[in-house]
Amino acid sequence: MEHELWPESYALWQRSRRSLVGGVSTSMRAAAKPHPLFFSRANGPYLWDVDGHRLIDYVLGWGSIILGHCPPAVVTAVTEQVSRGEMFGAQHRLEFEVAEMILDQFPFADRLLYSNTGSEAVQVALRLARAATGRLKIVKFIGHYHGWPDSVLVSYRPPRNTRSAWLESRGQVTSVLEDVLVCPWNDRTALTTIFEQFSGEIAAVIAEPVMCNSGVIAPAPGYLEWLRHLTTENGSVLIFDEVITGFRLGLSGASGHFGVSPDLVVLGKAVANGYPLGVVAGSSSILDLADQGGVMHAGTFNGNPIVLQAARATLTELISSEALHHLTQQSIILADGLRRLLTSNHVRGQVHQMGGVIQILLGVEGLVSHYDDYLQVDSERYNAVLVSALAGDTYLLPGGRIYLSAAHTTENIAQTLDVFDASLQAFAAVEFGGIG
Ligand SMILES: Cc1ncc(COP(=O)(O)O)c(C=O)c1O
Repeated sequence: MEHELWPESYALWQRSRRSLVGGVSTSMRAAAKPHPLFFSRANGPYLWDVDGHRLIDYVLGWGSIILGHCPPAVVTAVTEQVSRGEMFGAQHRLEFEVAEMILDQFPFADRLLYSNTGSEAVQVALRLARAATGRLKIVKFIGHYHGWPDSVLVSYRPPRNTRSAWLESRGQVTSVLEDVLVCPWNDRTALTTIFEQFSGEIAAVIAEPVMCNSGVIAPAPGYLEWLRHLTTENGSVLIFDEVITGFRLGLSGASGHFGVSPDLVVLGKAVANGYPLGVVAGSSSILDLADQGGVMHAGTFNGNPIVLQAARATLTELISSEALHHLTQQSIILADGLRRLLTSNHVRGQVHQMGGVIQILLGVEGLVSHYDDYLQVDSERYNAVLVSALAGDTYLLPGGRIYLSAAHTTENIAQTLDVFDASLQAFAAVEFGGIG
């Protein structure tokens, strides 16, 4: 029984469920296998669970921990701030100092605003886009995730071949379906048709420039350039949701990596190495609508000095050290190693890697370039591999996405590959209809 391997975690989870909904703080964490685990400490690439295991962490705060846990510069900056004031509810220097550091990385942007999460940042980005264009409709791509609010929780995980907008949650307002149009990723014809059908009505196209939430699927060659062209031609705002790709694909995210400038970029997760910060950056002609243009943007905790200390220390490290280069190199080594293991264990599958994010796609054949291809993934089998890897002190997200941090060492990667080798062997050939 699984809870025999993690008895303390299991017992704490049972207790937690009596007071906390599901015993977890977000619905996403309820999917943890074999059950949600409890942790007491983290450092560098490691997590310590309450059952006494030291795990190599590839969940990394769902992608937020880009430098590794507790990097000394971040710890020092945050600790110093704690005794100088937790919150001013007013302006302070760090607000513009961090803003300047971020804007330096995104040449198309000359202004930004802060929120606490990616979801909030997306909300204000959409509001700005609607205000800037005087239009209401938004286009999003099937399989892309932009947070949990009603206005965007549409067609994130619809059943295969679902082409109309799909509400993801019970209790969601249905009126969102009037204003959110959905389109398959990497499909030019479908998006062209939407723009023809709703000519002059589309305020914005929002995209994860790499579809990280459903398979880490890169844009087809030229696709982002084409999106840029199409939105400009139609007077719509192009929003890149870089909550995952921001910094993981380089200092200037996917926009820098692919050389395509959106009108607005949304950042979150890694920007403050685990402290809650969301950012919307773009041209002052749009952003300043939240200044004198009647667009409301608020949040009691926005611009929190502790969080901004974490952001400044994180950005300083990313800008001035080899951290990102190291992170990318380790990701390439892990992804190549995983591909070799699929072959040597005769397991069908693919491995995608972009910067510091990897996706292992078990059970798929051929190229995976669309959301429906991604649905072929054998998640149940992957979860079995995941539980077996966990018993080998390797902590993975359900679903196959793997995050790395700059603290992961070559030894960590080698150990992880050994663990995957053993886990894959156990489930090879017969289970996956082996190819050998
Ligand atoms: C691409 C993307 N956008 C937005 C969000 C929402 O961010 P948050 O969970 O900080 O609200 C996420 C979260 O995973 C994300 O992956």
